Amino acid sequence: MASVTFILRLTCSATETKMGDQMMPPMLAFDIYGTLIDTRAVITQLAQWLPNEAAQFVTLWREKQLEYSFRRGLMRSPCDFAVPTRDALDYCCDQLGCDLTETQRAQLMAHYARLPAFADAATGLAEAKARGFRLCAFSNGSQKTVTHLLRQAGLLPYFEQVVSVEVVGSFKPHPQVYQHVLTTMQVQAQDSWLISGNAFDVIGADQQGFHTAWIQRNPQQAFDVWRTDTGPVQPSLVRPGLEALAAHIGHYLDQQQP
Ligand code: LAC
Repeated sequence: MASVTFILRLTCSATETKMGDQMMPPMLAFDIYGTLIDTRAVITQLAQWLPNEAAQFVTLWREKQLEYSFRRGLMRSPCDFAVPTRDALDYCCDQLGCDLTETQRAQLMAHYARLPAFADAATGLAEAKARGFRLCAFSNGSQKTVTHLLRQAGLLPYFEQVVSVEVVGSFKPHPQVYQHVLTTMQVQAQDSWLISGNAFDVIGADQQGFHTAWIQRNPQQAFDVWRTDTGPVQPSLVRPGLEALAAHIGHYLDQQQP
């Protein structure tokens, strides 16, 4: 009953966008890696080959992958997200002195293409869809890679569209990639949410006018400190996972009503 009430409220909400003759509900853009899909799951494969270094390896791999993507963006050197991913993998082997063969490295990359979803992903997406939000997947990964990843994780049917940054020729948090998702979904930033486990992604979207939800996957992880002329960036919502996220967004939007 509560969700029916909310849908009715959502339908009449001032947060809707007028597109032609149609009223559009808010759009939720879900980040993929680290939000819906668990990049740390590659540790099971790594632990078989590198029992002592696996935990350190998986953390460094992700950090370096993102750093390389930021640098590719700054250097205006567009490429598939698989390039910084593979470069970062080779860097980790060099840095940690891990002698993985070419076959093992290829297997790790293949593993990355079929990473599992977080346990709360399907529930969170189903709840958001049931409440009438528009959902898109929004990632640094290529359209093909992300579509495949979401399909094998059972999450693809929840999305209206898979939006990749690849056509922009840069990576998050370049302002144009957030504009690209708005253009693709035909929605205004003030009617859009970026849902991400990555603080840099939340900050990038916030600066383009999105509402934001930071999914704090690691309770030990502090949110990035990011000062602006109007004060430090803070997510609109912070949640430990995706369960009940839609209800919290609904509550937040209700509170914004005059
Ligand atoms: C993505 C990265 C940021 O999926 O995790 O876009």
